[in-house]
Amino acid sequence: MIKYALKIGEPEAVAETLPRDEHIAPVPRISIQAFCETAETATLMQAAGEDRRLAKAHIKIQMGGIAAAAEAYRNAPTPNVILIESESRSADLLAGLDRLAEVCDAGTRVITIGRVNDIALYRDLVRRGVSDYLIAPVGVLDVVRSISGLFNAPDAKPVGRTIAVVGAKGGVGSSTIAHNIAWASARDLELNSVVADLDLPFGTAGLDYNQDPPQGIADAVASPERVDTAFIDRLLSKCTDHLSLLAAPATLDRVYDFGADAFDAVLDVLRGSAPCIVLDVPHLWNGWAKRTLIAADAILIVAAPDLANLRNAKNLIDLLRAARPNDERPHYCLNQVGVPKRPEIKPADFAKALEAEPAAIIAFEPQTFGTAANNGQMIAEVAAGHKAAESFRQLAQLLAGRAEAKRPRSNLWSPLLQKLVRRQV
Ligand SMILES: Nc1ncnc2c1ncn2[C@@H]1O[C@H](COP(=O)(O)OP(=O)(O)OP(=O)(O)O)[C@@H](O)[C@H]1O
Ligand SMILES: [Mg+2]
Repeated sequence: MIKYALKIGEPEAVAETLPRDEHIAPVPRISIQAFCETAETATLMQAAGEDRRLAKAHIKIQMGGIAAAAEAYRNAPTPNVILIESESRSADLLAGLDRLAEVCDAGTRVITIGRVNDIALYRDLVRRGVSDYLIAPVGVLDVVRSISGLFNAPDAKPVGRTIAVVGAKGGVGSSTIAHNIAWASARDLELNSVVADLDLPFGTAGLDYNQDPPQGIADAVASPERVDTAFIDRLLSKCTDHLSLLAAPATLDRVYDFGADAFDAVLDVLRGSAPCIVLDVPHLWNGWAKRTLIAADAILIVAAPDLANLRNAKNLIDLLRAARPNDERPHYCLNQVGVPKRPEIKPADFAKALEAEPAAIIAFEPQTFGTAANNGQMIAEVAAGHKAAESFRQLAQLLAGRAEAKRPRSNLWSPLLQKLVRRQV
């Protein structure tokens, strides 16, 4: 889907075709924002966005060049790719890139289209970590090739980050929280997100997003040999502009006794196809549940404030920390806090026992949560200014790795150097 911030004319006919021996791979569900200086480049970007290889990407085209980019991201998350057109001379371009680097989230790649063909400028761009520098005049396929190269190079990191959400006990609200986090990541962080409902017999993601897709995750698990990007794409159902669902069948006509590696193929493909993948992991302890948690990029344990939850959360955190010594420690949040007349364990006692503060404390609000669940809506949809909606946004930011986004960095983009080296070999 392409979103235009600017209405521009029809793209001109492009007399350019791909050589028969060249293959440009399609890009995953990434977000791209272009800041153009000339109408020609805006038209070019529009045409590139219509290329089949960018069909899954969200593209936004704006005018104003690098100054507009630095301004736009002062308070907004940056997309996967920023494309900057700059007609300026080298010094102005480099100064603009430095300003942009100060507001750029980690993981965002920058492609520059410029007019100056100069090796000294190339070196300076390399030093700043710009991913690619295209010298005008540039064709549609040059842009498509450059963007595709970022995600399909042999050494390119998979685009996606998996976030596993699991309850310390059954029924504590982990699915509700997983679905709201994915929704917030899609709407507020504008990250293309996928929810995978791993609770095959009883999953509620379909109900919560008001979707009833005929196919879903069970089809992928049943035929691992067929799992590839195109196959998973057919199983995804679209919930909102940036959010898709890999739904559970929620039927009991068969049992779901899987091996430990049952979800490996699906998760590998999802990692390559969307930036944010939220896994709704049921409260189970079997081979695949343990493996999914250990393999996740970020983990959120949802606990209600009682003793069994505290014990289970501690056991989960201890085991996961030992199994992933070089990873960010699992986060936890407290949910359903403040049930009338119920004795509860205080957040401070949780923090002491688990050696960390909760990432969020969400109150027991049966009216709001009950309405959302029964209507197939998210909390932010039934109560826009609700405190829980803000907590879900913050959790999305934390788990998607966007929390420390606005910190100046000198070299945050994957280096152009590697690409130049690759081109020369
Ligand atoms: N903060 C809250 N206040 C009130 N009700 C809540 C809250 N959070 C979740 N709920 C409700 O609790 C119920 C259980 O939620 P949910 O299905 O998300 O839990 P779960 O941990 O995924 O359960 P399961 O173990 O069955 O997978 C739902 O009806 C949900 O609407
Ligand atoms: Mg659940």
